[in-house]
Amino acid sequence: MTILMAIESSCDETACAVVKDGCEILSSIVSSQINVHTLYGGVVPEVASRIHVENISTVVCEALQQAKVTMDDIDAIAYTQGPGLIGSLHVGVQAAKAIAWAYHKPLVPVNHMTGHIYANRFVTELQWPLMALVISGGHTELVWMENDWDFKVIGTTRDDAIGEAYDKVARVLGLGYPGGPKIDKIAREGKPHYTLPTPKTASPYDFSFSGLKSAVLQMIQREEKKDETINVADAAYCFQETALQSMVKKTMAAVAEYRPAMLVLAGGVAANSRLRVLMEEAMKEYPEVKLVIPPLSCCTDNAAMIGAAGYVAYKHGLFGGFDAAADPALLMPGEE
Ligand code: KG4
Ligand code: ZN
Repeated sequence: MTILMAIESSCDETACAVVKDGCEILSSIVSSQINVHTLYGGVVPEVASRIHVENISTVVCEALQQAKVTMDDIDAIAYTQGPGLIGSLHVGVQAAKAIAWAYHKPLVPVNHMTGHIYANRFVTELQWPLMALVISGGHTELVWMENDWDFKVIGTTRDDAIGEAYDKVARVLGLGYPGGPKIDKIAREGKPHYTLPTPKTASPYDFSFSGLKSAVLQMIQREEKKDETINVADAAYCFQETALQSMVKKTMAAVAEYRPAMLVLAGGVAANSRLRVLMEEAMKEYPEVKLVIPPLSCCTDNAAMIGAAGYVAYKHGLFGGFDAAADPALLMPGEE
């Protein structure tokens, strides 16, 4: 049995979890800063780091208490090394190092995006080869994994990440931050009243969302010029359908070409209710490929996922030293 403490602070969630054997959550504490950042319409990095400093100790103590373990039971400390906001990352990295030093525990640095992928380990055993659609506020990637801990990015966004597009479109529609869940909700009442351009890219597995985002903005401005107001639910619906249909189509092209045993969704946007329906429908064409979607609590940022990926890194002996630093632009393992 291996028990890891995991720490995550890459953006605006201060989180600590205790995870057994990479697949069982003994505790997962997430302290969200959303209420504060909502006041500014988005994450303010300096504010985020300060709140991490204020909350990290409490979050760590609560994770131990809820898991009903002491530091004697912990085999290693996994932490998010990057990518993310540098000031935010520093807090988690320093906390992990301090705990590891004080209690003589090994350190396991983890790439945040691998954490999102391995969050699916809480649903089921992963099967290889595996295709992961990693969709968050900072990333939109198709990751091909022939084997455990073997990552190859086969497609990425040429401009905005999908979560970023959701957040920006929500902002221009006056829905506030964070935009993803707000668009998800209001789009359920929307109708296909507007036509938006389908994103185009040269490579079949690459994504693009900035043109679509600008098209929504132009549509609002056109309506304003005509002294008309946009129907927010319809605009949200049309944006979401266009973005998701294009993303699902590209993912299916990758599934058809690569023939994985499993397709997993990962990252905050995987929490989207419409995406879940569209994916399930599209995957009916590939009954031999298992579709796995993480539970909602494991889609958006949390530390349990860092414990899941950290466990695999631990088993591979991928330890970090006390000189390891936070890396805001950290690439996937194996990427140049
Ligand atoms: O993975 P995550 O929590 O943080 C990053 O690593 O970026 O993802 C956050 C992103 C935000 O852009 C947020 O708007 C989006 O995930 N998001 C959603 C939903 N819930 C969160 N997007 C669409 N639908 C949702 N239900
Ligand atoms: Zn994330």
